[in-house]
Amino acid sequence: MLGRLNHVAIAVRDAQKAAKIYGVAFGAEISDAVPLPEHGVITVFATLPNTKIEFIQPYGETSPIARFLERNADGGIHHICYEVPDIIAARDTLVREGARVLGDGEPKIGAHGKPVLFLHPKDFSGALVEIEQA
Ligand code: CO
Repeated sequence: MLGRLNHVAIAVRDAQKAAKIYGVAFGAEISDAVPLPEHGVITVFATLPNTKIEFIQPYGETSPIARFLERNADGGIHHICYEVPDIIAARDTLVREGARVLGDGEPKIGAHGKPVLFLHPKDFSGALVEIEQA
């Protein structure tokens, strides 16, 4: 079952700089920058009452968002993240219904210390989808 919208992710060259306007102009709570080497990104979160904005900047030589930023020099919406109650059950159902899971298909630990998976944009109307176990 699909749960809450956990976050919308925006890829940028400098996550702290990008998040700053959300803090100073909107009064949003801004997190510290957290490197996620396994995902090749540094994340900064702006917390909203009903969801979060995740700013991601490349980290390391082989960041999965490097190419995205080559195509979108000013940054852009990169993915949306939905919560699911059981990520393995959700994955197995998605695969059975023909959706493609990126990577080796095994969940990795995401920015909130919870298991996440990414789903192929071609199976979701052109949007990269992340699912996170709530
Ligand atoms: Co995300």
